[in-house]
Amino acid sequence: MTGFSIAGVRAQFPALSISDDGKSRIYLDNPAGTQVPQHVINRANRAMIEQNANLGGAFVTSEMALALVDEAHQAAAQFYNAPATTDVFYGANMTTITLAMSRNLQKTLNLGEGDEIVLSRMDHDANVAPWLLVAADTGATVKWIEFDTDTFEFPDDALDKVLSDKTRIVAVSYASNCTGTINDVKSMCAKARSAGAISYVDAVQFAPHGVIDVQDIGCDFLVSSAYKFFGPHQGIMYGRSDLLDSMFSYQVRPALEYGSPAKFETGSAPRETLAASLGAIEYIASLGDDDAGLPLSRDRIAAGMQAAMGHEMALTRQLIGGLTSIKGVKVRGITSDNALARRVPTVSITVDGKDPADMAKSLADDNTFLWSGHNYALEPINHMNLMKDGGVLRIGLAHYNTAEEVDTLLEQLEELA
Ligand SMILES: Cc1ncc(COP(=O)(O)O)c(C=O)c1O
Repeated sequence: MTGFSIAGVRAQFPALSISDDGKSRIYLDNPAGTQVPQHVINRANRAMIEQNANLGGAFVTSEMALALVDEAHQAAAQFYNAPATTDVFYGANMTTITLAMSRNLQKTLNLGEGDEIVLSRMDHDANVAPWLLVAADTGATVKWIEFDTDTFEFPDDALDKVLSDKTRIVAVSYASNCTGTINDVKSMCAKARSAGAISYVDAVQFAPHGVIDVQDIGCDFLVSSAYKFFGPHQGIMYGRSDLLDSMFSYQVRPALEYGSPAKFETGSAPRETLAASLGAIEYIASLGDDDAGLPLSRDRIAAGMQAAMGHEMALTRQLIGGLTSIKGVKVRGITSDNALARRVPTVSITVDGKDPADMAKSLADDNTFLWSGHNYALEPINHMNLMKDGGVLRIGLAHYNTAEEVDTLLEQLEELA
């Protein structure tokens, strides 16, 4: 078998065949974390059985652990198309990395009164709160870019309006975990660069649904989380090499003598999760050619992701077409058929007169899993004035979902609405 087959994909995920009292599970909670294929589990198991020692010893387990850690960094560099393996590092998760990097940048840039930080009303709080804390501690001013609540996109001049020679940092998301909008981060990073500011891109919601190329985007920093793309709970960061080399990093003294990535990776390297993140990238690469045993390459990663995207796009079209025909349902994101490429399949809805949490509970009773509320997207939910109504009901597709599952959800929603 070669190429993408939904049956072949699903067979690789042990969690997808679990049922409760004979009822299959429908996983539509993917924006909050995806299920994991056997290959990822095998990678983590092997790390704990065969590659389990600290790094730098002369014995075989230590040598194997070091080789594994190197391989995981190579895979992350290929996943992002980073120029060098030393341009990427791992951390606990996106939020923890961003809290640390915001403090490292605050100190490196010597931020203070008169400096400006640009944040977005479309972002998850993990790319907002760390910068608000920096602003509160330094006296820097925060400027906001606002999205249009009818189109769910930033107007072309949204960033131009707030950029100035005082802007030091621009923090934006590649894709929103609320509206699902994919932002034109390439143009935003170019604008930030011309203003002399550093760009910091949150790619957590984009990473499971598209090919990331940090060189093409031209960003200074970009971060995602492997548990959103079929891996373990772990964050993966890219940084521009000259910035990583020159910047300050809060670290323990013995590790300060090292360059990136060790300069930014605090504590012992978590072999089992590094192995699992490597496995997740290998899994994505195998989606194009169905062979997880082939050597990892950038081309295979991109081809695998594109194969998954083809299936996802058909499901997104089916989902949004169905949602827009249910009376009382409002999709809080892009719906027009010719603009679906400008969104990820993270689809937030509201239903007239219904509480999102109640709907999520009714669906859970039917073994359909999804999230409701603000989902940490405080800014977008407030910007759309939905907090008072309990936020949204969020439906999140992954490449392992099926057309039948989407039909079942649409029937369930029709009944609820
Ligand atoms: C867009 C976005 N950014 C950041 C995060 C936070 O990621 P983590 O859990 O890795 O800290 C999430 C998690 O849902 C997210 O969706």
